[in-house]
Amino acid sequence: MNVRPMRVDDLMGMQACNLQNLPENYTMRYYLYHAMTWPSLSYVAEDYKGRIVGYILAKMEEDLKEGEEPHGHVTSLSVLRSYRRLGLAKKLMVQSQEAMKNMYNASYISLHVRKSNRAALGLYKDTLGFSVKGVEKAYYADGEDAYAMHLPLRKDS
Ligand code: ACO
Repeated sequence: MNVRPMRVDDLMGMQACNLQNLPENYTMRYYLYHAMTWPSLSYVAEDYKGRIVGYILAKMEEDLKEGEEPHGHVTSLSVLRSYRRLGLAKKLMVQSQEAMKNMYNASYISLHVRKSNRAALGLYKDTLGFSVKGVEKAYYADGEDAYAMHLPLRKDS
């Protein structure tokens, strides 16, 4: 399995992977917006035939309040079921967080995750060191709450 920066011709494969794995889906225009605006922040995992088996779609936060430091945001991350627990999500996250820090001077990463998503919470909290900053009530379309999570990015790490 190979993890590499996303290319525009990966977008259909990324969208297909997202549709299989998550109820939060996006228009192709939104994928393209990420690809055009922050080309170095999104990555894919591909199998030996070049099929997309996982992706991270990420961006820099655009609506900064006064005094707020630049920070990255993970829009979506997923790995196809038969390729899980191989370390792919961790690799995708680490690649993106390095680019956020080194290319955009991000001071932290934010993301939202369902309160019930045990696998993703294990990845974010235990493996990557994110912490819960707050709960956003009924964040998801079906009414489930989200944890808002943050990971500080130290310049020397
Ligand atoms: N249960 C508990 N902990 C888990 C699980 C699980 N099922 N899966 C991963 N982890 C934790 C473990 O600590 C694991 O380390 P270990 O295997 O050494 O124990 C660590 O995360 C790293 O796991 P990876 O192999 O890198 O994770 P994987 O490639 O399997 O992908 C993911 C994890 C992305 C959550 C996957 O299960 C998935 O695609 N789920 C459906 C989609 C989803 O929920 N995406 C996240 C939504 S939030 C958002 O997009 C911002």
